[in-house]
Amino acid sequence: MKRRMKLIAIGLSSILIAGISKAEDKNLKEFMKYEVINGQYVKEEISADPDAYLWKTVRGKKVFLYPQISVRLNDKKANSLIPKKKLVSALVKVAYNDRDIAVYIRWKDETPSIQTVYDTNRFADGVSIEFPNRFGKGITLPYVGMGDENHPVTVYLQKTVEGRDYQKVFISEGFGSLTEIKEPADIQMKYNEKTKEWTAVFKRPLKTENSNLKAGLVPVAFAIWDGSKYERDGNKSLSRWKFIKLKKFPLDKEYLEYVSWGYPASKLGNPERGKKVALQNGCAACHRFDDQNTAPVGMAPNLSDIGGIAVPVYLKESILHPSDVVIRNLNLNRHYNKYAKPDKFKAYPNNDMYQWYMVVNGKKQSKMPPFSHLSEQDLKDLIAYLSTLKSWKNFK
Ligand code: HEC
Repeated sequence: MKRRMKLIAIGLSSILIAGISKAEDKNLKEFMKYEVINGQYVKEEISADPDAYLWKTVRGKKVFLYPQISVRLNDKKANSLIPKKKLVSALVKVAYNDRDIAVYIRWKDETPSIQTVYDTNRFADGVSIEFPNRFGKGITLPYVGMGDENHPVTVYLQKTVEGRDYQKVFISEGFGSLTEIKEPADIQMKYNEKTKEWTAVFKRPLKTENSNLKAGLVPVAFAIWDGSKYERDGNKSLSRWKFIKLKKFPLDKEYLEYVSWGYPASKLGNPERGKKVALQNGCAACHRFDDQNTAPVGMAPNLSDIGGIAVPVYLKESILHPSDVVIRNLNLNRHYNKYAKPDKFKAYPNNDMYQWYMVVNGKKQSKMPPFSHLSEQDLKDLIAYLSTLKSWKNFK
């Protein structure tokens, strides 16, 4: 009884963290330090000009972007360049006022490429940012590549195309399912010859018809295209989900706890044991990762750099509930079933083995079975292991 009285007396702030051990508290701090970008509140109008004075006053955070290799694209030349790619390091800043939010992103690119109208072999540099259309307590994170059927995202895209300002806003439910929308957005992008850097600023209203970012913690992710590396469409570099903190709005503790689950994965479990868990459970029958290259190419996402683009909670969801986030694969028609009967044009039907999902009652269902039978320790070790996978050097 006495103890209980004492607890009540500790006060509100400690009750909020009561039950959270010191170690977890420290992990949360690390999450805030590495994964959370603090938005800076300003009273004045925000300029989308990368050179505006405002951007010199806002503190930035480093964000790393990894080659997108989960979904393999049908482009031999671009695929052959993947093992040579470098990690992209970008500096991200966020400012907001009562109406708008603007995201600034700057990265090095020694070879600025502008897509010309007539030369179809030259590709544009570009950058995009995405926000989930819905997020918050009880809502799982979308596929970071471009959303998925259960989690549409709004994507803002800027490319460098000769003679026109190539900007687009669209809603995406995964590769190959984009719907362009007319939403107000102010996007500007500039190249600095001296520093060899691109800078882009994306400005939009906090609240639009499709998404409301007036929240304490807003998921955001980034993609960058390097035209000189033949990057286009899904061939790009991709960040993991990052989180923008907007102090003016209430921070939902439960949501924070959810997105920071298992962070940092290096302390979650034993990666060596986790690799054994992966092998014992047959992950390598469908996926390629690490030194495991026996699964047929394109059978399932390549997990070789999944540790770079997935936060621990996303990995947990992917393993326990594969059908919550179903990734669309693009290249079905690379694979024909030559054992089946050809159609009247003598074409073989697609080989369904390479389709990543089935459609059941109009809904996509992952072909990956749920691994909900794993013990808690196995699951943690497995996620600790997957989080170490950050290399695309052996991509074939
Ligand atoms: C029967 C084939 C199969 C097996 C076995 C399998 N997966 Fe998958 N996995 C898939 C397919 C197909 C997808 C893509 C569809 C989807 O999003 O669920 C996928 C998606 C994933 C993703 C999401 C990838 C991304 O880029 O976001 C992760 C992570 C993953 N699997 C991990 C595992 C792990 C760990 C195991 C072993 C415990 C495993 N898978 C076993 C077929 C499989």
